Amino acid sequence: MRLPLRHALLTASFIAALLPGLAAAQAKPAAEFVPQVGQAGKDVIWVPTPKSLVEKMLKMAEVKPGETLYDLGSGDGITVITAAKQFGAVATGIEYNPDMVELSKRNAQKEGVGDKAQFIRGDIFATDFSKASVVTMYLLPYLNLKLRPTILDMKPGTRVVSHAFTMDDWAPDQVDSSEGRTAYLWIVPAKVEGTWKMDKGSFELKQKFQEVSGVYRTGDGLSYRVTATHLRGDQISFAVGSAVYTGRVSGPVMQGTMRAKADAPATSWSATLVK
Ligand SMILES: C[S@@+](CC[C@H](N)C(=O)[O-])C[C@H]1O[C@@H](n2cnc3c(N)ncnc32)[C@H](O)[C@@H]1O
Repeated sequence: MRLPLRHALLTASFIAALLPGLAAAQAKPAAEFVPQVGQAGKDVIWVPTPKSLVEKMLKMAEVKPGETLYDLGSGDGITVITAAKQFGAVATGIEYNPDMVELSKRNAQKEGVGDKAQFIRGDIFATDFSKASVVTMYLLPYLNLKLRPTILDMKPGTRVVSHAFTMDDWAPDQVDSSEGRTAYLWIVPAKVEGTWKMDKGSFELKQKFQEVSGVYRTGDGLSYRVTATHLRGDQISFAVGSAVYTGRVSGPVMQGTMRAKADAPATSWSATLVK
């Protein structure tokens, strides 16, 4: 009979002794995560891009209000937040480190863009970013190369900007720098390799990324070299002799206008991919 009473008293005094400590622990906020430059990441460490280069990269990509931007490996969120705040983009960061994701969300709130700047805790190689019009990244050469097939399958005209690292033999469309750091821009080219049938004759085009060469064959068996080719996203232009063609590629159809010579009236043309 006496033991349980003693036990209850001991328990009560133990709790009473703990209470001030518990209250203090509840009142004290958890220490905020402080990122360290060089901290380990899944495939690459965290090193932030300087703000001036972030702005340059977004200008190179011509980010417009309402456009969808993804930053692959978004770190503390600087690119995503700048894209949302200064360019009006709907921007998403994919970041593997959960502490960095929470930090980015806090930074976005502080900058007043919590609604337009979002962060996904995920692996860039397992997260869908195919709806992006603009992709930014600061990774490593072999990671850029690993992403390259996915990027080349994105919508023609998608802009990709990389801090410091290239895409191997896919030449950039533009290079710029700030504070001694370099940024590279690529525009995803439409897929144009193959034989394109027209009303009279056909084109046979060869393609290496945005570089295109080819031959035009008339219906009666004559061949002419396709020259002055230019492919930027889905916009294509080229010449056959004195005739200049400009047009837009939409999957297996190309169409636009053609001038037989500089002062000739523009006529419309179209071609269909047959193989
Ligand atoms: C060099 S930092 C660049 C950060 C930011 N994009 C910038 O330019 O300031 C690379 C970031 O990628 C993250 N990262 C590394 N591997 C990743 C992966 N497989 N998926 C998602 N994030 C990754 C790292 O945690 C780091 O924050």
